[in-house]
Amino acid sequence: MGELAGEAMSVTEADLLATVNASPAEHMALAIDGGEPIRRIPWPTYDKGAVFVQPEDEQAALRAIRSHLYFRYDYRDYADTECGQFERELCEYFGSQHALAVSSGTAALAIAIMAAGIPAGSLIACPGFTFVATPSAIVLAGCRPFLVEVDQDLNLDLAALRERWQPEIKAILVVHMRGFASDVEALAEFAAEMGVPLIEDAVPALGAELNGRKLGTFGVAGAFSTQSDKSLNSGEGGFLLTDDPGLYARAVVLAGAYERRCWRHFADVEPPLETDLDLPLLSMRMDEIRAALLRSELQRLPTRLAAFRRNYAYVAEALADLPGIEIRQPVAPGAYLGEAFIFRVPDGVAGWFADALCAEGVDARNLGSAGDTNVRVFWNWRFLYDTAEVADIQAQLPATTRYLTEAVDVPLSSCLQLTDCDDLISAVRRVAAALPAHLPVAAPEAQPEIPAQPRARPELLARP
Ligand SMILES: Cc1ncc(COP(=O)(O)O)c(C=O)c1O
Repeated sequence: MGELAGEAMSVTEADLLATVNASPAEHMALAIDGGEPIRRIPWPTYDKGAVFVQPEDEQAALRAIRSHLYFRYDYRDYADTECGQFERELCEYFGSQHALAVSSGTAALAIAIMAAGIPAGSLIACPGFTFVATPSAIVLAGCRPFLVEVDQDLNLDLAALRERWQPEIKAILVVHMRGFASDVEALAEFAAEMGVPLIEDAVPALGAELNGRKLGTFGVAGAFSTQSDKSLNSGEGGFLLTDDPGLYARAVVLAGAYERRCWRHFADVEPPLETDLDLPLLSMRMDEIRAALLRSELQRLPTRLAAFRRNYAYVAEALADLPGIEIRQPVAPGAYLGEAFIFRVPDGVAGWFADALCAEGVDARNLGSAGDTNVRVFWNWRFLYDTAEVADIQAQLPATTRYLTEAVDVPLSSCLQLTDCDDLISAVRRVAAALPAHLPVAAPEAQPEIPAQPRARPELLARP
């Protein structure tokens, strides 16, 4: 990460000239100012029904419904159940030793923490930019989130974590947020150095890779969701991966495998578990209908991943040199899923930029908007703090606050056609061309200084 001061964004004279040279369509009045919008049809997103589901997936779910066997632990052998087969297929796909299908991504995370043997009350480090489910899962597992700054590309900042390290931190929970890989290789090394497990929240990055290895397979456990917005969609659901048979056995019991049903998961060997009576059973199992649906979708996952990547690469390449925006960069070439297009704009205009894109017909959000209670930003995780003063909470992680305040987030469905991507490109270009007129006067001087060492107030960041 470079010097923070050097990262301040400014729009230069050259940028202004570039806007003069932009194509005429980009100079038409913005829709937010009453002009004609770039598109009038809704921007495709999962919650408007843009999902990657085919008739064969519906047939698979119907097969399970018609079987009338909805519970994964009935009279059948493990290998004959939809859940058992889904887990085996996940192992093959990810190259993992063990997979456990559960009721949600949050459940997968909480179970992973508990099964990794993290004592209740421990601090668990996680980034200040993630879906609220990450700190919530830590709380659910009886632990306390220790929030860490993210860098300008919105990934957990290892240098900041090293600087603020304390012995009470008993695990690191890294998140591949909005589909971009965190530097999980460096974090795994650091975790080993500190003698704590690394757990991956790979929920937003199902299928993405870093240097040829699937995200979610770097830590002692990787957690995934199959909620509708994810690469595999069963409405609700999730799974965890691990190569550790002990962690796996404990996870199976914790998820709700009562009365030795855990033994069914170990074909020819005894599970490394003396008894299944030492652990609480949390009833976070997956059911057969969802597993059947997911098994079918898993077969077409490579096609879906290719669509994500094609769309992202197309958009990112077209906008790479656009003055005024800084596109989030991957930690290694191609180390992203492509489910979201995130870029930063100069301080003070990201809210306007996102609103202007929405007016053009493209869904967009300023991640750190003051007028929005986006639960991906740490100052809206009110349950962690003893204060409701947003400014006080933001002061805990000033760099994260700044980067999120400058960030614009556009969802990229795998159902997008290239014509949709063209609309996005035109909309971003049109809004960016109008950017100089909207910059706040003397914005760079108004930038708050980011202290080298964030003020640590762990009593607020980590409430039991
Ligand atoms: C980063 C992250 N972690 C965890 C979750 C939780 O997944 P679920 O909704 O399946 O509990 C989500 C959900 O979107 C997420 O984005």
